[in-house]
Amino acid sequence: SVRIPLIAGNWKMNKTVTEAVTFTKQVTDQLPDPSEVETAIAAPAILLQPMIDANSGGRLQVAAENCYYENEGAYTGETSPMALKDMGLHYVIIGHSERRRYFNETDDIINRKVHAVYNNAMVPILCCDETMGRRESGEHVHWVVSQVTAALKGISDDEAKKLVIAYEPSWAIGSGKSASFDQAEEGCYLIRQTVADLYSDEIANQVRVLYGGSVNPDNVKGLMAKDNIDGVLAGGASLKEETFLQLTQYK
Ligand code: G3H
Repeated sequence: SVRIPLIAGNWKMNKTVTEAVTFTKQVTDQLPDPSEVETAIAAPAILLQPMIDANSGGRLQVAAENCYYENEGAYTGETSPMALKDMGLHYVIIGHSERRRYFNETDDIINRKVHAVYNNAMVPILCCDETMGRRESGEHVHWVVSQVTAALKGISDDEAKKLVIAYEPSWAIGSGKSASFDQAEEGCYLIRQTVADLYSDEIANQVRVLYGGSVNPDNVKGLMAKDNIDGVLAGGASLKEETFLQLTQYK
């Protein structure tokens, strides 16, 4: 496949500056060549510049977990995408299920944020989730399709082909119960088909689709072996240097 795998961590609201710097220094020289396997850690905004400074090997993509959809103004407490770009960031997670659930992010807000990330020449790691109830009732297909469609409203072909989308079943997040390899592949395939319907087969073949939800060093290889899974978005397993490095060495 022409798609370069992406092994990404999402620290969520964990770690201090001291801990983040220690982690970055420890992994920076041990990561794979980014032309073969890209690696990223999304961290809270206050940790990003210290991590960038500690990333002497330069192989880690330091990423943001969220940003606002305006570049500047009277928005107390928000993080500017323009400021993230200025730090040299490439990736920003947008629409994580925790943002949707605890911070009331709607499809419209997520769509604005996707635009803001592209307008600042960065790339969103767009998350879409799925709940157990929806899977049992068969509604999950419609749910996943509608989240992706809404998030990409007004996004051009040139922007869309750079996109990273993460498929995260809510019941697999932080539960220790990963989706089966087949369920994960099915979800990622569904997302790629959605991109093909919205854009074209060519663009769908360029977009990278990640699986997220209780990814660990034991299941990463089986997940990565699937045709439509181009990488992972790991929460818990990205917090320790050793397990994150193991994920990046899945081959
Ligand atoms: O963004 C990461 C996901 O929410 C997965 O978290 O690996 O701890 O289940 P987890």
